[in-house]
Amino acid sequence: MNILIIGATSGIGRGLWDTYAENDNNVIVLGRRISLLDEMKEMRPTNTTIYSCDITNHQELEPLFKDVFDNAKHIDLAIICAGTGDLNPELLPDIELSTINTNVLGWTIAVDSIYNLFKKQGFGHIVTITSIGGLVGEPNAPAYSATKAYQINYSQALRKKSKKDGISVTEVRPGLVNTAMAKGEGLFWVMPVPKVVRQIKKAITQKKSLVVVTKRWNIISFIMKYFMS
Ligand SMILES: NC(=O)c1ccc[n+]([C@@H]2O[C@H](COP(=O)([O-])OP(=O)(O)OC[C@H]3O[C@@H](n4cnc5c(N)ncnc54)[C@H](OP(=O)(O)O)[C@@H]3O)[C@@H](O)[C@H]2O)c1
Repeated sequence: MNILIIGATSGIGRGLWDTYAENDNNVIVLGRRISLLDEMKEMRPTNTTIYSCDITNHQELEPLFKDVFDNAKHIDLAIICAGTGDLNPELLPDIELSTINTNVLGWTIAVDSIYNLFKKQGFGHIVTITSIGGLVGEPNAPAYSATKAYQINYSQALRKKSKKDGISVTEVRPGLVNTAMAKGEGLFWVMPVPKVVRQIKKAITQKKSLVVVTKRWNIISFIMKYFMS
C-alpha cells in the first residue's frame, strides 16, 4: 500500500510509520522537523519517502499534496495526525491562535485537499486523529478542546459525504497517550504508543467509522458525553 502520514515525526504518527513501514508498505511521511524526517529515511530507506511540511503554510498544501499523489501514482491511505495543543489557563491569544491555525485551518485544508485527490483517483481511505478532549470544553485548554470538537464534527460530515464518493473515512479518537502532547497534572490511563498504534491499525484494516483508543477510554468517553458537558 502507499500510505501518507501527516504529522509522522513523533508520537502516534511515528508509531504508525514504524509499523506500516516494517510491513513492506511505501510510507510517505510529513512533518516540520527535518532532522527527524532524515532519521526516519535513514532507518527504513526503501519504505520511507519524506516531505517537509508545515500545515500552517496554507497556500502550499494543495500543490504539495498534488505532488505527493503524482509522485506516488496513487495513495491508498492517508492519516492526518498533525496537531498541536497547549494548556492555556491564562487565555494567551498566541497559544489559542496557533492551535486554531494548526488544528482547524491547516487541518481542514489538508483533509479537504486529500479528500478531493481521493475523489479524483476514485478511491482512498482518510483517517483523522481527533481526541476525547473534543467531547467537552476543557477550562485549561479551551482552544485545544474546541478545535478537537471541530475535527470530530468535520470527520462526521466527511464520513456522511464520502459514501457517494467511494472514499472511506475513519475517525480515531484517542484518550491520553504517552507522547509530548499529553500535558497537565494528575494524568491517568496514559496509554503507551505501541498499544494505541495496534488498536488504530486494526480499526483501519476493518475500515471502522469511529474508534476510541484505547478501548478502556470508551468508559471515560461515555461519562464525558453524558455527565460532564
Ligand atoms: N497524546 C495524547 O494524549 C493525545 C490524545 C488525544 C489526541 N491526540 C492527537 O494525536 C495527534 C498526534 O499527537 P501525538 O500525541 O502523537 O503528539 P506529538 O508527538 O506532539 O505529534 C504531533 C505530530 O504533529 C506534527 N505537527 C504539529 N504541528 C504541525 C504542523 N504545523 N505541520 C505539520 N506537522 C505538524 C508534529 O511534527 P513536527 O513537529 O515535526 O511538525 C508531530 O509529528 C494530535 O492530533 C493530537 O491532538 C493526542
